[in-house]
Amino acid sequence: MGFRHVFICVNQRPPGHPQGSCAEKGSRDVYQVFMEKLQQDPELFMTTLVTPTGCLGPCMLGPTIVVYPDGVWYGNVKTEDVDEIINSHLKEGKPVERLVVSQGKPPGMM
Ligand code: FES
Repeated sequence: MGFRHVFICVNQRPPGHPQGSCAEKGSRDVYQVFMEKLQQDPELFMTTLVTPTGCLGPCMLGPTIVVYPDGVWYGNVKTEDVDEIINSHLKEGKPVERLVVSQGKPPGMM
């Protein structure tokens, strides 16, 4: 299990803002679940950093998460997806394909 850094957008925009925001779609709960799982798992805790961030760019696809060094971008992540991301990606190195919106670069960038 290699070292990984997980960034979770927790940006909040006012209700009705045309871009929406990840916090509006539940990303702060996703962050909380990640942190709880991390604290319950010593091996994961030693190999993974989870950091809440401002807007990562692809708001329409949010809640947005990016995992480095893999450069895997996830979209529409819900609390119930966290276990799968941890077990498949962070522990076994296999990204959860159904949630991947881009790899190696932010979604929509050349
Ligand atoms: S608000 Fe989360 S990616 Fe922009």
